[in-house]
Amino acid sequence: MSKYKQEILSYLMAHQTEYVSGQTLANHFNISRTAIWKAIEALKTQGFTFESIKNKGYRITDLPHQWDRDLLSYVLKDAIIDQLYVYEEVTSTQTIAHELCLAHDEPLLVLSEIQTSGRGRYKRPWSSQPNTGLWMSLVLHPNISYQQIATFNLFISIAIAEAIKAITHLEPKIKWPNDIYINNKKVCGFLTEINGDSDGVHTVICGIGININHNIDDFDGRLRQTATSLKIESKEEIDRYQFIKTLMDMIAHYYDMFLTQPFSEIKSVYKSYSMIWDRTLRYTEGNKQIHGKAVDLKDDGVLVVLDDNGALHQFISADIEV
Ligand code: BTN
Repeated sequence: MSKYKQEILSYLMAHQTEYVSGQTLANHFNISRTAIWKAIEALKTQGFTFESIKNKGYRITDLPHQWDRDLLSYVLKDAIIDQLYVYEEVTSTQTIAHELCLAHDEPLLVLSEIQTSGRGRYKRPWSSQPNTGLWMSLVLHPNISYQQIATFNLFISIAIAEAIKAITHLEPKIKWPNDIYINNKKVCGFLTEINGDSDGVHTVICGIGININHNIDDFDGRLRQTATSLKIESKEEIDRYQFIKTLMDMIAHYYDMFLTQPFSEIKSVYKSYSMIWDRTLRYTEGNKQIHGKAVDLKDDGVLVVLDDNGALHQFISADIEV
């Protein structure tokens, strides 16, 4: 395995619109042309396609359809993570992320093509088909109190909504606290789990699932009525690499805002994405269930709901039927 494979890929990606000769690469990395050829052959087996013209050189024409670690490292080189873990199949990226953060204290990202036991909020199963979605867990280490997790979720949901909007030009909506919808169907769910002690939260493990290139037939049973994908809604195949880059850029931006500014600064942006205002909906939190309208979102992330009998209720988290 060529130890320069990653660097050669990065060079070719950065010069994707031109032909790069084997000699240019050999000179640049100070290695033999045979070593360059070996690296290119290795990249071909990973699903990269090259056009190669005599006396001109190589040009990347197609990228792998599956998640490729080398390409993700290039695409996410400026992301707010120190480590990237890419798997073909895991039980759940959340489970792996929990294990990894026992041994690592830097920010990291875990991604898998398939999850055999993907999980959602309230321990619900999360359907995670291969080659279609984005199933990832992001581990961060903010120095925050337990109460601040509620607003962390609000910042993250704006980041996801903005990434979807930037890539698809659709109008995603946030269903407080952890879902993103398009045209009244769920396209993304995320869950935030924490490790902490008496000083507060030291690790946040944010698991994000986004249906990207699913066709309607990819959803079974009830999901066909309630779930959608970016491809179904935009009627276009989405480049997952471009999507994850945009998503991680948005997360970096809103995570920085979360650490430095109060939620009140972007509350109006959040509300512009929200799909629950002015609607009478059913709210369930544990054994408590009410029917009412959201009337306020406080600066600490608490949602205030006015029930049908005129009583006010405060929710830090809830399951909302839309
Ligand atoms: C929800 O809607 O209830 C949240 C769904 C979260 C799913 C993601 S997919 C990546 C990560 N790994 C998991 O097992 N779950 C989260």
